[in-house]
Amino acid sequence: GGSLAERILATMRDVEDFPQPGVTFKDITPVLADGDLLAEAVRAHADPYRDRVDLVAGLEARGFIFGAAVALHLGVGFLPVRKAGKLPGPTLGVDYDLEYGSARVELHAEDLPEGARVLVVDDVLATGGTAAAGCRLIELCGGRVVAVEVLTEIAALDGRTLLEGYTVRSLVTV
Ligand code: PRP
Ligand code: MG
Repeated sequence: GGSLAERILATMRDVEDFPQPGVTFKDITPVLADGDLLAEAVRAHADPYRDRVDLVAGLEARGFIFGAAVALHLGVGFLPVRKAGKLPGPTLGVDYDLEYGSARVELHAEDLPEGARVLVVDDVLATGGTAAAGCRLIELCGGRVVAVEVLTEIAALDGRTLLEGYTVRSLVTV
């Protein structure tokens, strides 16, 4: 029983000290392994956007899992926003800061028609750096970001600040 949010929350696993000491990793694999919960989460991500988006963009790697499923559910195509150097190109890219160092996301711009309405999907919103870079990249390639959908939002890290101006929706807030 319980709401979808309660069931997702109860099913996710906290892994202490991963990937480094002091960090609590929010592991979504138990949600993926539960067929009913997976289907409900995908529907919840997708339903508000029926006939409102042309493409779904998933953020490598965990955003590929939900993103591709949401695209299939909506009957639209899927864009993989990849980490640097993975796409054969030509690509456009956006660099962004991490707590230590920096990262880069890339996209095959030619797969994104000018003006296309794009739903951005990822599993976790933490600092917001990854999602914000993904949104900027979609726009750099000529797309329009309709919203950012994440399974879980870590409220204490305030990722919404970096995503000001975008619609951000999470199924669960922790
Ligand atoms: C995790 C998570 C989000 C991002 C959230 O991805 O899947 O994409 O971090 O953090 P942020 O809001 O602070 O940017 P990660 O890069 O660890 O790897 P993965 O998805 O490839 O497993
Ligand atoms: Mg990720």
